[in-house]
Amino acid sequence: MTPVRGGTPRNLERRTDGPIVARFAQLLGTPLLPWQQLVADVAGEIDPVTGTYYYDTVILSTPRQCGKSTLVDAVDTRNSQWGPDRFIYYLAQTGKDAGDHFKKYLKTIQASPLADITTRPYMGAGDLRQPFVNGSVIMPKSVTKVAGHGVQGDKITLDEAFSLSEETGNTILDGFMPTMATRLKATGVQPQLWITSTEGTADSTFFNKKLDTCRKGEQSRRTCWFDFGLPSGEDPEDLDAIMRYHPAAGLLWDKSQLRDFHEQFRDNPAGWARAFGNRRDEGITDRAIDETTWNTTATMPVTPAELGDRPVVFGIAVDVDATHTSISAGIVNSDGTITTQLLRILDGTGYAPAEITRLCETYHAPAVIDERGTAADLSDRLHNLTDRNGDPVIEFVDMDAADFLTTGQSYVSGLNNGTIKHAADPDLDASAANSARKWAGDAWRLSRRGSTGLTSPLESCMLAAWGAAHRPEEAGPLQIY
Ligand SMILES: Nc1ncnc2c1ncn2[C@@H]1O[C@H](COP(=O)(O)OP(=O)(O)OP(=O)(O)O)[C@@H](O)[C@H]1O
Ligand SMILES: [Mg+2]
Repeated sequence: MTPVRGGTPRNLERRTDGPIVARFAQLLGTPLLPWQQLVADVAGEIDPVTGTYYYDTVILSTPRQCGKSTLVDAVDTRNSQWGPDRFIYYLAQTGKDAGDHFKKYLKTIQASPLADITTRPYMGAGDLRQPFVNGSVIMPKSVTKVAGHGVQGDKITLDEAFSLSEETGNTILDGFMPTMATRLKATGVQPQLWITSTEGTADSTFFNKKLDTCRKGEQSRRTCWFDFGLPSGEDPEDLDAIMRYHPAAGLLWDKSQLRDFHEQFRDNPAGWARAFGNRRDEGITDRAIDETTWNTTATMPVTPAELGDRPVVFGIAVDVDATHTSISAGIVNSDGTITTQLLRILDGTGYAPAEITRLCETYHAPAVIDERGTAADLSDRLHNLTDRNGDPVIEFVDMDAADFLTTGQSYVSGLNNGTIKHAADPDLDASAANSARKWAGDAWRLSRRGSTGLTSPLESCMLAAWGAAHRPEEAGPLQIY
């Protein structure tokens, strides 16, 4: 089975109701997938002391399109049959979300052999419900509706719990939890609360806290939890890794479909990592340059008048889809340290050749640019610029692919050991704050797609610093005899 990222293992010393859930799932036409069976088995463990459910709370986090809601349907249907007059709630973000899912369930159950244990469903706009012959009933509700009134029931599911703030979520629990003991007494069956969701964002304050408590091992002993998704060392852009850790991979869809899903998230890598890796989207998680280092290595910008005869190299970088071109100067100071300074952020790449030519000629300075990646096209155009005699207009500092992969790390090392500073600039600060790393083995470069803002300003500084440290010798290479 798909490896879990964390959670409660099955305790084989306890009997479980899981096989009965499996039977209901089969009758509903969705026989349990292995991960669904694990959840049903653990959540269905029976306390030998009380003879009813051991767990009162079930917390389930999986990627999207795993079969969470379908599992809840099977469990709810089974739950309706523990005894007469049971109340089962299915809550989602809005009444429409809950209702849309529930209407599908109604169709499924009414077309199944289980229709025989149901009575006619209510289809009213504000009153959807599926009653059973034994008097039990399953009802979808919107979280907002329920939050004001509280629910008393035998099973309640908060599906899509990532959408809840801590306050809203707790209001619902405050209404439900105190009634659990009363219902246990009245029915003999331990009521259960299920909280199910894919990871959300930093705003998912309710679900985040629940999951974080479990991950720290601080959940109540009556809570079981299940966490499926990509472990922290894995790259969400690696589709084979997604196939390994998504519990519905190869069961509900295959790798070629996964490629299509991935294509839909082209411009939204954080959304992809969340939906298919079940990674919380906390904005940027792997900042290329940490905030403290960045803030303590700022220096005053250098004006052209102050430049004197200090050597300069221009770093050029292009954002993904060629939306912007940034140009930075790497200035070699008399003490050998390098100051990097963002000069321009141009729209697109169209104006870049003229401006770069002007700068290089004015300051008699070479340029450095990545000849592959997003800057490849601009790089070609710059390399092909020739003067009247057919000589290249711009001189370049040679940089191969392996060199390029060192530019980020050497920039950070330079900042840390005081040999590189960056001239204070709000656009450059924003770029540093929003630029993430992308690892390739032990090396990293700026992740142009994985970042949340322009990466070209920071990348152009990294290139300028590298270029300044590797600039061609004016009088030929240094000879040592
Ligand atoms: N055991 C199963 N057998 C066959 N099909 C299943 C099974 N479980 C789920 N499915 C199907 O897979 C699809 C996704 O299931 P479901 O909507 O339950 O997933 P989910 O995890 O709730 O997704 P989302 O995060 O988008 O809400 C549905 O079409 C559902 O019918
Ligand atoms: Mg769902």
